Amino acid sequence: MKQSNLWLALFLFALFAPSGPVRAGDNDEVRNCTWCHGTSGQGYMVAPRLAGQRPQYIESQIRDFHDHIRDAPFSKQYMWGATAALQPDRARALAQYFATIEPKPANDGNRASAARGRTVYMEGIPEANIVACYACHGPNAEGVRDIPRLGGLSYAYLRSRLEQWGQGYHSTPGSPMPVVASQLGPEEIEALASYLSFVR
Ligand code: HEC
Ligand code: HEC
Repeated sequence: MKQSNLWLALFLFALFAPSGPVRAGDNDEVRNCTWCHGTSGQGYMVAPRLAGQRPQYIESQIRDFHDHIRDAPFSKQYMWGATAALQPDRARALAQYFATIEPKPANDGNRASAARGRTVYMEGIPEANIVACYACHGPNAEGVRDIPRLGGLSYAYLRSRLEQWGQGYHSTPGSPMPVVASQLGPEEIEALASYLSFVR
């Protein structure tokens, strides 16, 4: 991490994390999430990073877990229970809290396929009917409104999400991703997940 980013992270941490009038309410409430999602929500094992994620997206996913629409194995196993009794106003407060934390990139993809991933991300593959991810997720994969930030999520998480849509999990009506992801082959998924894990 560059020195200036480190100071920014420390500053944000001091501002939002430990004490203070965190809008997410008390720290016990946040700890209910961070014991799986890692310190400051930076992700841990199979639980993805929440730090820096778009707040509207976090809320929409909590609704999907709660309503059992997001139904992949880890969603069922971990998040159905974690959201069963979460009231919408608490979900909103937690979403806003995690969104303000500076995200750290996982940097854990395969370097050799990152350049290929970047090309697919920016340009798509028109002859294979693969759309440019850039059009919705933004030039730096930072997301907008309820479209999530992808930059810096972990390789394994990105890969499993892209594979699982193709397998029919989490087929939210109206979401573009089941169709988008089902056009991707294993090679494109590997390249995209690698590239995105390095984006900061
Ligand atoms: C027991 C572990 C556990 C707990 C507790 C937990 N999570 Fe999760 N969470 C996970 C796992 C694992 C996933 C990934 C699910 C998947 O891959 O399908 C996840 C996924 C998510 C996602 C989707 C993120 C994305 O990028 O799509 C959100 C949002 C989320 N959790 C929010 C929360 C919040 C808020 C809390 C606290 C109220 C919480 N989680 C508590 C394990 C947990
Ligand atoms: C038409 C707009 C659109 C395009 C194009 C698009 N996405 Fe998405 N993407 C979304 C939306 C909206 C979501 C929110 C999740 C949902 O559908 O429930 C999402 C979610 C995701 C997620 C889940 C992130 C998380 O935290 O779990 C991944 C990964 C993803 N997109 C990857 C891609 C990739 C890779 C491409 C290009 C091949 C792409 N998307 C193209 C709109 C788009």
